[in-house]
Amino acid sequence: MTISSNISLKPYNTFGIDAFAKYFTTVQSPENILELLQSKEYQNNNRLILGGGSNMLLTKNVEALVIKNALKGIKIVKETNDTVFVKCAAGEVWHEFVMWCIDKNYGGLENLSLIPGCTGASPMQNIGAYGVEIKDTFYELEAIHATTGQLKTFSKSECEFGYRESVFKHHYKNQFIITSVTFQLSKHPAFHIEYGAIKQELEAMNISELNIKAISQAVINIRSSKLPNPKEIGNAGSFFKNPEVSSAIYHHLKDEFPNLVAYPLENSNYKLAAGWLIEQSGLKGYRVGDAAVHKLQALVLVNYGNASGNEIYDLSTHVLQTVKAKFGVELEREVNII
Ligand code: FAD
Ligand code: EPU
Repeated sequence: MTISSNISLKPYNTFGIDAFAKYFTTVQSPENILELLQSKEYQNNNRLILGGGSNMLLTKNVEALVIKNALKGIKIVKETNDTVFVKCAAGEVWHEFVMWCIDKNYGGLENLSLIPGCTGASPMQNIGAYGVEIKDTFYELEAIHATTGQLKTFSKSECEFGYRESVFKHHYKNQFIITSVTFQLSKHPAFHIEYGAIKQELEAMNISELNIKAISQAVINIRSSKLPNPKEIGNAGSFFKNPEVSSAIYHHLKDEFPNLVAYPLENSNYKLAAGWLIEQSGLKGYRVGDAAVHKLQALVLVNYGNASGNEIYDLSTHVLQTVKAKFGVELEREVNII
């Protein structure tokens, strides 16, 4: 295991921000991590765990030891006639893992196709798309405590999953290095196609018999048509969460803005489409230097080349303030600001 110093993180974050790490290392096994815990660079510095760097905005050089998680391996740990428990190491690329499951006809993750990043980060914000979140198939995860080196297993309830939320963003922030995630998948998958766009896309694809591979392909097609590919334009997906408001606020807004896009929630609140709020604030495609609001999806902020992390952050503040002034609604950043 080598620890390098003064390393550019540009290739390691999907915004393509050229910030530098004071120290940088790659870990390939839990043993590597335990060895790393003994090093002076680990003990004398703050640490930042890095997966695919697809949900972070680097606003300054990282005066810390950056630990790139490259733990690999996918294995079946338990199997019944109906169910299979698959344990995936944290450094596996998420989409490749989803493809592995689809190939074996293990259902549950197909709606989450093409989400960038690594499996180890998937519980951090309980990744979700097209009507499914990982909490729906999550079984347990293993993580090493950042100070004691002890391995702990977290059950689903201990992770406290919510919409783009988990205990690892709050109570246990920076306290654990996730090493693997185990999912409970189905050999007789139930299909989740209630999300309108999926049905339409499946129809356009002329699918005669529904299967998880077709659903995955439909999701890939939809995503590719509106989300910018980070290999071409720097971004970290949705920059803000879709805000939740009370029924009273929703009805007040709906009276004033009849085209408001919103979804009712079980608790009688409503989730508003932040992309709609931003577009209606006149900001879709708004650009300051190389920092911009994406032309096709206003919830996504992009770097057209040489924007700094601070320029993107300042743009996000402008978006927050403009939406607040027009709708009185406070957006919350979804991306991790470093
Ligand atoms: P990173 O950005 O590397 O890390 C994210 C956070 O997790 C950081 O705080 C990091 O320190 C921490 N972390 C990472 N790995 C570990 C670990 N092993 N142990 C402890 N902490 C760790 N997200 C969705 O939910 N739904 C979407 O539909 C979606 N679409 C996207 C589309 C695009 C084009 C892009 C660029 C992003 C999208 N995202 C989406 C966001 C992102 O892909 C996910 O949040 C993903 O899980 C991040 O994984 P990562 O490995 O890149 O995490
Ligand atoms: N909309 C607009 N203008 C825009 C963008 C969206 O009016 O510029 C409106 C449209 O009416 C659209 C609605 O907002 O019907 C919802 O848009 P979309 O289906 O694109 O989804 P989203 O709410 O913008 C969320 C997630 C995505 C996830 C998709 C699909 C959040 C913060 N974002 O986006 O996740 O892929 O749904 O399920 O919940 C991510 O987290 O990084 C991410 C990309």
